[in-house]
Amino acid sequence: MSQKKKINANNDDFDKYTRELQEQILEQIKKKYSETVIDHWQNPRNHRKIDTPDGYASVKGSCGDTMEMFIKMGNDKISECGFQTDGCGTTIVCGSIATTLAQDKTFIEALAGVSADVILKRVGGLPASDVHCAELAAETLRRALADYLCQKKTPWKKSYKRS
Ligand code: FES
Repeated sequence: MSQKKKINANNDDFDKYTRELQEQILEQIKKKYSETVIDHWQNPRNHRKIDTPDGYASVKGSCGDTMEMFIKMGNDKISECGFQTDGCGTTIVCGSIATTLAQDKTFIEALAGVSADVILKRVGGLPASDVHCAELAAETLRRALADYLCQKKTPWKKSYKRS
């Protein structure tokens, strides 16, 4: 076999091995997590920074991971809600769910209606070891809403924040 054919055969073997490994990992994940979790893990919604947000928060969770949340208000509703995190896949899922739930809600509706319990219910539950990821997402949203309220009362503070 020529050197080129050997390299191509090795690449094909490696691709096959990688595909099989990915399928095995996905099968393991499916045993532990709901379809909603896998959907938001593979296609996170609102995973972005929003420039000049009306409300912003950065919160470090009990595990040491951080989540940031950005909200924009329009017509007394949350017109945009984005998040970023350096956390695990489940954190990304919870940020995705929290921002989706907050979208188009009034301040009060988001504050009262997007809790860790609601996020957990929406994702179809999480293993006990991942519950804190939902708590982190809910707490980050709550603080971003509090920041919005603070900025609304004292708009001059906004210009001193986040260069
Ligand atoms: S493991 Fe840290 S927030 Fe999910």
